[in-house]
Amino acid sequence: MENKVKILEETFSQDLSLVKTQAEVEFLRVKYLGRKSELTELFSNIPVLSKEEKGIWGKNLNTLKQKISSLLEDKLKNMGCKEDEVDLTFPSASFEKGSRHILTTVTQEICLCFEKLGFNIIEGNEIEDEGHNFEALNIPIDHPSRDADDTFYLDLPKGNEGKFLLRSHTSPSQTRVMKREKPPLAVISPGRVYRPDDVDATHSFMFHQIEGFAVDETISFAHLKGVLLHFARDFFSSDVELRFRPHYFPFTEPSAEVDVSCFICKGPKKKKKIHKCAICKDKGWLEVLGCGMIHPNVLEACEIDSKKYKGFAFGMGVERIAMLKYGINDIRYFYENDVRFLDQFSV
Ligand code: DAH
Repeated sequence: MENKVKILEETFSQDLSLVKTQAEVEFLRVKYLGRKSELTELFSNIPVLSKEEKGIWGKNLNTLKQKISSLLEDKLKNMGCKEDEVDLTFPSASFEKGSRHILTTVTQEICLCFEKLGFNIIEGNEIEDEGHNFEALNIPIDHPSRDADDTFYLDLPKGNEGKFLLRSHTSPSQTRVMKREKPPLAVISPGRVYRPDDVDATHSFMFHQIEGFAVDETISFAHLKGVLLHFARDFFSSDVELRFRPHYFPFTEPSAEVDVSCFICKGPKKKKKIHKCAICKDKGWLEVLGCGMIHPNVLEACEIDSKKYKGFAFGMGVERIAMLKYGINDIRYFYENDVRFLDQFSV
């Protein structure tokens, strides 16, 4: 018995000298004072001892128990915390921090460029009627975008007059606002749009657009150019240029498509490039949006006097802009919820 107690005392003080953390102290407490400890086993031998020995060893073992217990307590105190205190040095449980989706961030960044110029942000309707999506926008009945193969039509409950559809562009926001509010107007309207396109690297049946327009008595194409140049320099790079190419849209006249000079290779003028530019493929220009002066028929459909008021409008695809800005080569990445992709853009 004497020998066993001696060895026990020695191994305990050895173990104690190696302890560094609160958890290790707890481990020793279980090892030396727990139900399965050697000390407990020694206590269980007492009943078989002689009466005289019982007294001695009972006292000795109790003293040892108290000694071990107070040495463990001291150790904890020296570590700077009591057993029931929080160990501030203990690593915290990790938690995942969420962040905005890249498309939300890009949408907000684009909107902010226009907000700084005094544009108001409004939300349009994702479910539209044909009147707002087509007719009021001067889109004739035989236009291909009105075809059932080019648009998601909806069956709505009885009582809803006319045909409803998932909007095929954000331009109906123009007609909704212009019917509701009168000039001067400067509005930005971001949101989802739907087209039954086959999904590939550049197409999706759902994507995002940002619509913008301004209406007032003196609005001209020069305002449109100034606003879009300001946006491009704010959003892409302060040294970009814009190129307006004549185009056709039913709801604007004249209409144009707009290219921005490549903000990576700095446009077509810079010669002697070693590698082909990954963004513009050495064309020097990137197509970014469609625009024009709001067609008088659209103003009139919204009960705005087209003799008195003029307006400009533009529309751009958020995915396309994000792909250009960040060199993303497949639209499907946006929708797959793969955190390895999304994490690269978390802020
Ligand atoms: N709605 C057009 C589309 O989806 C984009 C667009 C072009 C909007 C010209 C406009 C505009 O407001 O003026 O392709």
